[in-house]
Amino acid sequence: MSAPNKSYDPVEVATLKVEYLQGVVADAIAAFIAARTGEDLKDARIAHAGDRSPLSLANREIGALPPAAKAEAGKRVAAARQEINQALADAQERVDVADEARVVQEERVDVTLPMRRRPVGARHPLTTLRDRIADLFIGMGYEVAEGPELENEWFNFDALNIGVDHPARSTADTFYIAPEGSGLVLRTHTSPVQARTMLTQQPPIYVICPGRTYRTDELDATHTPVFGQVEGLVIDRGVTMAHLKGTLDHFATSMFGEGIVTRLRPSFFPFTEPSAEVDLKCFRCKGADSTCRTCGGQGWIEWGGCGMVNPKVLVACGIDTSEFSGFAFGMGLERTLMFRHGVTDMRDIVEGDVRFTSAFGMEV
Ligand code: PHE
Repeated sequence: MSAPNKSYDPVEVATLKVEYLQGVVADAIAAFIAARTGEDLKDARIAHAGDRSPLSLANREIGALPPAAKAEAGKRVAAARQEINQALADAQERVDVADEARVVQEERVDVTLPMRRRPVGARHPLTTLRDRIADLFIGMGYEVAEGPELENEWFNFDALNIGVDHPARSTADTFYIAPEGSGLVLRTHTSPVQARTMLTQQPPIYVICPGRTYRTDELDATHTPVFGQVEGLVIDRGVTMAHLKGTLDHFATSMFGEGIVTRLRPSFFPFTEPSAEVDLKCFRCKGADSTCRTCGGQGWIEWGGCGMVNPKVLVACGIDTSEFSGFAFGMGLERTLMFRHGVTDMRDIVEGDVRFTSAFGMEV
């Protein structure tokens, strides 16, 4: 019994032997070096540095040693752990770089590959034109007024001094709404909005009314049964034809550019007196080509109608004619678009082919 108790000698605990620990360290380093990815390394870490690794198992044996032997064995295990941790850190750094390089490679996008284009569409040029006109007049202090497209005959005709036997009332011109005698029509122009505005607002009145209108025309290169108009109405003290002309000139210049020439040609509308057609000097031939197809050799192109609001209309709408006078004008939106952009066939505007509309797409 005098001999040392061998089983307490650290040298004799197999898992704490120097050679054994060296083997543990060597195995761990080899496993870390072999790891190619973060996943591999995780497995190797659990196997060689985890709670159930040979190193941890060896560490546990220290507790059973006599105090004198603990320090020596502890140092040995700690040194082994340090070596393993260092190797693990090195390997981690290496696989992190490799993993990142692999992700960059896998998620690489070839920006030169042709893509499948998705059509984004475009606002219809009539819509952008309407907004542009509204903006122009809003900039001059006008308000935008609106009225129904399904309109009372009274507003569409009577209030505007259009007599019961006026040809515009015939079914050859106007869409009547069934049943007969309903008193409803699809508005043939935006002028009923004049009447509606005067009946609801006190002068001074400055309004612009862009909107859709209807007439029983066949669709052809210059006609469409559904079309857009923009109506302007001013009621104020001392309004004259000169104000009308100045406003129209400004409107024309902003639509067709500097240098456009307008003229007022005497005409007749029941709701204006005096009345005039607004003509534009032909922007193609400037009146110099008797064979010009844009103006038909006339030198002028009709743009719209205008005039001083007929006092009969003012009275029908409750405006005091001793104090107020006014002017009104109405232009076709399609015609304006055609002149402005050189569109030669109205059907292109209404048919909704994106090859036509997308050419205007940048104007959003
Ligand atoms: N409403 C008329 C038309 O449709 C145009 C117009 C408007 C004329 C305002 C004079 C004043 O033809």
